Amino acid sequence: MSSLVIAVDGTSGSGKSSTSRGVADRLGLRYLDTGAMYRAMTWWMLEHAVDVHDASAVAARVDQPLIESGTDPLAPSISLDGEDVAEAIRSDVVNAHVSPVATVPEVRANLIALQRSVIRQALEDGVGIVVEGRDIGTAVWPDADLKLYVTADPAARAARRALEEGGTDADAVRASLETRDRIDATRGGLAVPVGATHLDTTPYSLDEVIDQVVALAERAR
Ligand code: C5P
Repeated sequence: MSSLVIAVDGTSGSGKSSTSRGVADRLGLRYLDTGAMYRAMTWWMLEHAVDVHDASAVAARVDQPLIESGTDPLAPSISLDGEDVAEAIRSDVVNAHVSPVATVPEVRANLIALQRSVIRQALEDGVGIVVEGRDIGTAVWPDADLKLYVTADPAARAARRALEEGGTDADAVRASLETRDRIDATRGGLAVPVGATHLDTTPYSLDEVIDQVVALAERAR
């Protein structure tokens, strides 16, 4: 599976993160969570009192944060200016502000360049990588060997996210997911990549979805 790039796009709570990590682990590939990078950028802006609804204020500071992503699928990590922010970036305040930050073109250009450098490094090291996000198969790496578009029905997505977030109210989680989906969709960032396989994970267990993707990856090799 060396030098295989798998692009996994889809909505939050669709199961794409657990699937991506599980597939990377099974196939001995690296893993990159691009959503965590947008979250880290948002956290930095909030910490530095930048008005995240002012696109030019965000654009002016975009080069300042140092965002580093670990690529071990069993221990994904993200640091900001050398500090571990894995927990902080999952907070409600980041959930509420990440979509507007992610719509700023300078943010996207900056993070896409960073994401491409992580992918290039993996390929140079002779290791493949699973990259998950919203625009991997369309913008970040359209030449990926395998492209997936992962969805699940809204109630299943909210229930999964609520569980991940430690038993938060599923209705509140659903409302927050739907708001983010709406902003993400209007920006045009989340689209089905050309040549992508659509996976609706609603009826399947995580292991079943991982099995399906591993089978697709074997064929894409
Ligand atoms: O995947 P996750 O839910 O952590 O992503 C958080 C947010 O980051 C998304 O709602 C979206 O606004 C943004 N995002 C993006 N492009 C990506 C990954 C995430 O715009 N490739």
